Amino acid sequence: MVSQIALLAGDGIGIEIMAEAEKLLRALDIKGLSLIHADCGGTAYHKHGHPLPKATLDIAKNSDAILFGAVGDPSCDNLDRHLRPEQAVLGLRSELGLFANLRPAKMMSGMEGSSSLRANISQNIDMLIVRELNGDVYFGEKGMRQTDTGLRQGYDIMSYDEDEVRRIAHVGFKAAQGRQGKLCSVDKANVLETSQLWRDVVIEVAAEYPDVELSHMYVDNAAMQMVKAPGQFDVILTGNLFGDILSDLASMCVGSIGLLASASLSQGRLGLYEPIHGSAPDIAGQQIANPLAMILSTAMMFRHSLDNEEIAAKIEQAVAKTLADNILGRDLGGLASTSEIGDAVIARL
Ligand code: NAD
Ligand code: IPM
Ligand code: MN
Repeated sequence: MVSQIALLAGDGIGIEIMAEAEKLLRALDIKGLSLIHADCGGTAYHKHGHPLPKATLDIAKNSDAILFGAVGDPSCDNLDRHLRPEQAVLGLRSELGLFANLRPAKMMSGMEGSSSLRANISQNIDMLIVRELNGDVYFGEKGMRQTDTGLRQGYDIMSYDEDEVRRIAHVGFKAAQGRQGKLCSVDKANVLETSQLWRDVVIEVAAEYPDVELSHMYVDNAAMQMVKAPGQFDVILTGNLFGDILSDLASMCVGSIGLLASASLSQGRLGLYEPIHGSAPDIAGQQIANPLAMILSTAMMFRHSLDNEEIAAKIEQAVAKTLADNILGRDLGGLASTSEIGDAVIARL
């Protein structure tokens, strides 16, 4: 059986880190894996007039998994929103029903010195952020209008329905069952109706998982707790916006945003795998981006879409050895280039 992997590099460092993921896939030389490239983001806008051309969406739909680099191009910041590079990733998430975003943040041995936190605080971090990805303020009605008094007003409607909360809650509880059995649901139920519903539904779903210890935390406190005592978290279950913000925060607790991978899953087997970071225009084209988040996303692809735990573990071990051998990019205080890091992982497979 052939598995088709779509490679959507995107923009900026997305292109450089995707080259390392592709090199790794070719080095693994797995029978029955076919790789197909497609344009997205600003690159696709400049070439084809749209950040997610139909041809790219079709390739994604017809693949077994999607590896996604990053999108974002400052030259597109003033385009109509539907033409901006970010619509590529948002469009894929909604068109493919990728509602469950898993963002693990684990302290890897030897990385304590790179964390923004003191080593005694960062040493035990092992959390999984389960972020809802198809709803919330991201996908509600939005627009610009004028108030009665003639002022410009921007608006974005935040909402969740109970089915959307229920299905991501199940993902969170199941993930907790496979880990330390603790789930912390993060919301803002003290202020937002959306969050009140979120909390009510999570409590209902919890009845089906008596073996999971459920707690609730307001998002502002969660941000504070994440830097005060991040070791307390196992699974964090949260909405689209809060999950976006908290995962960037979690990345610096474990050393660098260049280390955080993610899986975006649907009800079926198809998944999209991408680093949590963006196209990093400030360092693009210099071969100084850390490709490990992309490479670890590739490992997640083998685990969740290709049913190949053996290869997933092999990649993760090679990454751990690369770090242990002090082959570090600038983000981690080293001097290794993007491709040197990619080569080092391959040499340790
Ligand atoms: P960013 O994640 O691109 O960069 C934030 C900071 O982290 C920058 O200083 C950057 O140099 C650094 N950084 C990020 N990845 C790194 C890596 N692998 N190695 C070393 N350093 C790294 O966030 P931003 O600057 O806010 O956004 C830039 C563009 O990316 C925007 O257009 C944004 O919309 C887009 N974006 C896209 C995605 C995605 O494609 N999924 C995610 C986040 C941001
Ligand atoms: C992420 C990014 C995206 C998000 C943007 C680029 C739409 O920040 O994947 O974390 O907000 O989800
Ligand atoms: Mn983000």
